[in-house]
Amino acid sequence: MNKATLFFRIAFLVLTLASCSENDTGKKKEMTRNATNLVVVGFSQVGAESDWRRANTMSMKETFTEEKGYGLLFRDAQQKQSNQIVAIREFIQKKVDYIVLAPVTEQGWDEVLRDAKAAGIPVIVVDRMIQTSDDELYTCWVGSDFRKEGDTAVLWMEKTFRDKETLTIAHMQGSLGSSAQIGRTEGLHAGASRNAGWKIVLSDTGDFTQVRGKEVMERFLSEFREIDVLYCENDNMAFGAMQAMENAHIQYGSNGGVTIISFDATHAGLEATRAGKISFNVECNPLHGPRVEKIIRQMLNGETPNKISYVDEIAFDAATITQEAIDRRGY
Ligand code: AHR
Repeated sequence: MNKATLFFRIAFLVLTLASCSENDTGKKKEMTRNATNLVVVGFSQVGAESDWRRANTMSMKETFTEEKGYGLLFRDAQQKQSNQIVAIREFIQKKVDYIVLAPVTEQGWDEVLRDAKAAGIPVIVVDRMIQTSDDELYTCWVGSDFRKEGDTAVLWMEKTFRDKETLTIAHMQGSLGSSAQIGRTEGLHAGASRNAGWKIVLSDTGDFTQVRGKEVMERFLSEFREIDVLYCENDNMAFGAMQAMENAHIQYGSNGGVTIISFDATHAGLEATRAGKISFNVECNPLHGPRVEKIIRQMLNGETPNKISYVDEIAFDAATITQEAIDRRGY
């Protein structure tokens, strides 16, 4: 560690110990700016529901370090919007320089964002989107095109099952009201409405977690066993569903039985794809730390970031995925 970093770290620690709670690493803007020059970022994260989410948190924590000139206040909302609203109010009260919000759901942000705006704190929305009555309530958004992800999966289904007259589909949804769920669900529904033989016979939310994925799949199997496709809105729910199918002696995968389509394409998800357990996996990239930092740098330089920035994403087919693609995957 060089001398300047050591100085910043000691000064920052002294300041934060004075009044911050357990995992605070930030302090009032005037104090941090004057004493340590750190840019204080308050990050309200959804939770730790999936491998994707943990990789996203890691990306933010690795980016917003004291060594790079940041003080990060990280708050885990445990998948509850009410916790995110409390966190944002805390950030406002602590006068952070920037608020970064990874929202649980799209709706219900107007009031707290009005307070952030009144306090003059820019809000960067990341990952899922928000719907507000006034677009000026947040500075910008960066994340995935979830509808496009759904459309990509559906195009693969149309190609793969073009000779099948009927297709029974079990639909495991992510957290209801989140952009990731809304976009991927819209994609499937659009596919089902233009393919007369497609029947969505089961549908429920597994909340993006492995535990719920297993529970929901168990219930699905107790209601209907002739499933052709499991359209599963993330890898962790797919892992849970696989456990349920193994326990019930239901075959799945590219060699026959239930065809699993998944989203995220995490390292573990890609290994399951290479093994033929997941037949098609659509990428959702969680490495947003550097993207958010770029936005903050732009603003610090007096530039205006793009209001909306989509991340480029690809998809992986079990028939063509390479070991090299898995080895390259950083999350
Ligand atoms: O918003 C992105 C989604 O949230 C990911 O697909 C899912 O795994 C995560 O929990």
